Amino acid sequence: MENNIDLSYERHGKGPPLVLIHGFPLDLSIWDKVVPLLENDFDLIAPDLRGFGESSTMDGPCTMLDFANDIAGLLDFLGVEKAAFAGHSMGGYVALAFAKEYPERVSGLALISSQPGADNLERKEGRYKTAQDVADKGVGVVAEAMTPKLSANKEVQDFVRALTIAQSKNGVIGALKAMAERDDFMSILPQFKFPILLIHGDADALIPVDRAREVKAVLPEARLVELTGAGHMPMLEVPDETAEALKLLK
Ligand code: MLT
Repeated sequence: MENNIDLSYERHGKGPPLVLIHGFPLDLSIWDKVVPLLENDFDLIAPDLRGFGESSTMDGPCTMLDFANDIAGLLDFLGVEKAAFAGHSMGGYVALAFAKEYPERVSGLALISSQPGADNLERKEGRYKTAQDVADKGVGVVAEAMTPKLSANKEVQDFVRALTIAQSKNGVIGALKAMAERDDFMSILPQFKFPILLIHGDADALIPVDRAREVKAVLPEARLVELTGAGHMPMLEVPDETAEALKLLK
């Protein structure tokens, strides 16, 4: 496959294709609760990004465009020319990179707990510091720092902590650097011709709901679904509401 990366993926259901892209530092299993709620509506394609889950791990640095090109390669392999995309957090950054590179292959774009803006200098430096900590001490440092910010729900915390610890060092370090170096997509969003959907928990402690409201303010035609009481992991915290919102992509 593209860039000599083998992507693992799951495919469920029937209908128009919807690609579900997980966030950092997780894998496709975050969609397990919403897949059964959407499989009568969509042909769901959920990859593990390179370096995560069962996909192969890269040695060197990678970019959001590399992640996006891996998905383009997967869609070519599956014979899917065009699809809707739903990206969770970092998965949203990947979906934006895909949409910029292959706008003709996108029928709609949902950003779940995500944002189109790039990192500021402080955030960028923090990513490099975390990457060094992971290199020195392992992915446990990310699990400890991030888990409380992902959800206030104990069950969800246990799930994401275990999932984070299961990821590879190289995958986590590569994604941290890719996030630090990602483009700012705010200015290109208005150029997109397909519908844009924003799904955001109003209790998100990692990426505040204000980021989605700012997009809605400059792009009034975008749909914004705010999920009351949900944190950064709405597909696990409020799967029914998240699935209903994603049906707007049909
Ligand atoms: C994610 O949840 O995918 C990332 O933590 C997002 C980020 O750090 O910008």
